[in-house]
Amino acid sequence: MAVKRSGRPGSVEGVPPRIVRPYRSADTRCAARQGGRCEVRASNAGSSSREGREGREGREGREGREGRACYHRGTSVDGLRGRLGDGRAGVRGPHWATNARRDPGGDDSVGGMTDAESVTLYREMAVFTGNAHRAFAEAVCRHLEMPLGRCEVFEFSNENTFVRFLDNIRDRDVFLIQPIASPVNTRLMELLIMIDAAKRASAGRITAVIPYFAYGRSDKKDQPRIPITARLVANFIEVAGADRVLTMDLHAGQIQGFFNIPVDELHAQPHLAEYFRSLNLPRPVVVATDVGGAKGARDVAERLNAELAIVDKRRTSNNEQAEALTMIGEVSDRDAIIIDDEILTGGTVASALELLRRHKARSIYVGTIHPLFAGPAFERLDTPDVSELVYTDTVPMAEGAFTSVSTHVLSVAPYFGDAIHRIHTGGSVGELFR
Ligand code: R5P
Repeated sequence: MAVKRSGRPGSVEGVPPRIVRPYRSADTRCAARQGGRCEVRASNAGSSSREGREGREGREGREGREGRACYHRGTSVDGLRGRLGDGRAGVRGPHWATNARRDPGGDDSVGGMTDAESVTLYREMAVFTGNAHRAFAEAVCRHLEMPLGRCEVFEFSNENTFVRFLDNIRDRDVFLIQPIASPVNTRLMELLIMIDAAKRASAGRITAVIPYFAYGRSDKKDQPRIPITARLVANFIEVAGADRVLTMDLHAGQIQGFFNIPVDELHAQPHLAEYFRSLNLPRPVVVATDVGGAKGARDVAERLNAELAIVDKRRTSNNEQAEALTMIGEVSDRDAIIIDDEILTGGTVASALELLRRHKARSIYVGTIHPLFAGPAFERLDTPDVSELVYTDTVPMAEGAFTSVSTHVLSVAPYFGDAIHRIHTGGSVGELFR
């Protein structure tokens, strides 16, 4: 047969296009990650260099041959999701609590594929929690329209933690919700032991859902002879047997890289911004409590179409004392919204408050993601100088802890519920950030 080359890279007339098979490990679940669209650019991708040209041609060739289809038998991701039901296809709910391997249509195939050929998604999802923040886990489950799984987590009198799942979790897509909140080391051990118990109970996949990741401030060796505890905790979680992590606003985004498993990091800034927008403040300015917090504060400022100011803060030692030096930006006669990722002793916010008073801000609001509030925090923040203190529910908070300042809780449980649903059904978590 005569073979004629066509103009399109990678195709030869008369010969069926070469099928580039996605990599398949023994675990066919990995195939779900193969064959989609992916940008791999050389920094000089726009140039006419040989490398740039080959990169472009290779990409176009691949896209031409494979398109967006990535599952066997050419089933598209969207098609598969539609068959499984991920909320977009209007499949009867709560679909994510059902056996994801089975076609809602009744046969045992997915997207026209038989079980043997198909990408194996996990069976039912199951959600459990330790003792860190049960109310949050229950709120997530309410959003998911499914019950919270039954699990015993308690301490013996020798302070050894014991965990036992009371529901069958074999092959299930297991989500363990546990912020590493106070008492931090106990809650961390509970999480690790839950992961180990789930692994030994043959869970199909284990996702550690950690609304607040403690030890985030220990993310670098910036003094002699100190640990990088955030990395150590990441190692613990991984070694215990977690397959992935879902969390919210790590103290530093780079902590994601301390894990060698996928980490989905949700962000609360859009929720804070939406709330502050609803207050219709006439002259808002968003204030970052230090340079490290400028990125998160800028996100809120942009969403509010407000200006950004930054406190030049320094810590004098490891004794939790913060000193605000100067205010960078215009705050006088403005409605200042202080944004801090976490508040512990309240020292950082208190010194920002002091600066704002000195610079004659006309009103002051405080928004934080993780309200850890310990030690003198209540005294420092419970002041009529703060018009409102806004925080999320990533960690538990005692009711009535503040008496003077008005408080508002923004629940991020539905957001976590949406993310869990997407992880379970193979949807995009990134789309939630828009
Ligand atoms: C620091 O880098 C963080 O963003 C917070 O500002 C800090 O953790 C708050 O701690 P505290 O309330 O004890 O000043």
